[in-house]
Amino acid sequence: MPDKRFNKNILCIGAGYVGGPTMAMIAAKCPQYKITVADTNEEKIKAWQTENLPIYEPGLLEVVKKSRDRNLFFSTDIEENIKKADIIFVSVNTPTKMYGIGAGKTADLQFWEKIARDIVRIADSDKIIVEKSTLPVRTAEAMERIFNGMNKKIHFDVVSNPEFLAEGTAISDLENPDRILIGSRETESGRIAREKIVEIYANWIPRDKIITCDIWSSELSKLVANAFLAQRISSINSISALCEKTEADIAKVARAIGMDSRIGPKFLNASVGFGGSCFKKDILNLVYICEYYGLHEVAQYWENVVKINEYQEERFVQKMIHAMFNTIAHKRIALFGFAFKANTGDTRESPAIYITRKLAEERAHVVINDPESLRNAAQDLKDIREYVEFETDPYKASQEAHAIAIMTEWELYKTLDYKKIYKRMEKPAFLFDGRNILDHQEIYEIGFNVYPIGKPALTHF
Ligand code: UDX
Ligand code: ADP
Repeated sequence: MPDKRFNKNILCIGAGYVGGPTMAMIAAKCPQYKITVADTNEEKIKAWQTENLPIYEPGLLEVVKKSRDRNLFFSTDIEENIKKADIIFVSVNTPTKMYGIGAGKTADLQFWEKIARDIVRIADSDKIIVEKSTLPVRTAEAMERIFNGMNKKIHFDVVSNPEFLAEGTAISDLENPDRILIGSRETESGRIAREKIVEIYANWIPRDKIITCDIWSSELSKLVANAFLAQRISSINSISALCEKTEADIAKVARAIGMDSRIGPKFLNASVGFGGSCFKKDILNLVYICEYYGLHEVAQYWENVVKINEYQEERFVQKMIHAMFNTIAHKRIALFGFAFKANTGDTRESPAIYITRKLAEERAHVVINDPESLRNAAQDLKDIREYVEFETDPYKASQEAHAIAIMTEWELYKTLDYKKIYKRMEKPAFLFDGRNILDHQEIYEIGFNVYPIGKPALTHF
């Protein structure tokens, strides 16, 4: 039975990077609702109840603490909580399917379908099911069939409410989002369900930022938003390759084009490549859908965004090997950063994983430093442990190293004493700035041979 002390009982299945912070924010803003976040991973659920949350996200602990044990609860008892909930957000991971039809491209929906079947089996009252995970277009249709095809005397509405938060800025993105998107069936009960989700967000988000639409447009918008963002990075990265061949400077090009208000200045930082759990997965999903509908040219167009990203990572490693006299065997190389971007401990699809593996293939000794992601890095690299070392101190990581490669744009790396670092390195000392965060002229004057992204190298020979 729902808990009558609260005017809505909300369950979120999946206590990860999306489910955890989103529910913590709803709980903090809406003390009148009871929010339970449930997950099959016991360790994670335990960690959500401590000071040491399972994910690193600036400001998250403060938000969690506001409502934990007041109206925010964490649990592994999914069955009991399904029964009590009026609204169920589903925020489980949808990894890329690695077998059968669509292998390597489409999302593996087996976890989602299992949850849908569990909900139908357990529920004894009407429910609104909210898709929070990114799903291929028309997933809701399949889910509705499962939900309402069992001849139970209860009704399920499926609503799509994609999450646009970015890691590292999750709390401000949740507090002050550009928009909230809620899609549903254009039926009477679909619209009522949608309105109930609007009501939740309207507790702190202005109504004009909450947009509603049909369910397919909502599902597709999430994929397309990520595809466009990733496309910007691949576009600037492709031009960085051209800059390295000419005398042009990618930062100057980005500044010049970004001042065109139609283009805008954000998301134009050339880098070693984009990572994160969403971009590649969502683009490949989009590619798969296009192929499914016979739109091969469209599929190829988007697939190239991923290809350019792989090219950028490959180019970076090639540059390192080539600069270091075509051999890096037994050379100590310090990686500054391993997370896919700053202010997160997440390493999913991080370019650093690919770079480390390539360096290890060449028999280099890779020493990894990162303020938040060493635990995840150790997991990602467990099969090549003999070639990698993890070091919590960047000065020690770079001691006696032949090269430093900056993988993540942590503030910390901008403020290190590079004179001290240089003194303790093997000579000639190399610095490959995969994020263009340092003053390259200054680093060069210290004595380093400097290789930025999309700018001419500064070398002493
Ligand atoms: C992304 C979307 O931004 C977010 O809206 C969606 O909900 C989830 O996917 P996230 O993966 O957390 O968020 O990070 P984001 O800030 O988008 O960065 C993705 C990758 O692109 C990172 O590896 C980042 O370093 C890289 N990037 C970003 C660049 O290389 N250059 C840029 O200019 C911006
Ligand atoms: P995201 O970045 O999309 O939030 P995460 O991997 O961080 O992805 O989180 C997804 C969470 O969903 C994980 O904690 C995982 O344990 C949980 N999960 C996956 N399948 C189920 C399931 N069937 N029931 C409950 N939780 C699940």
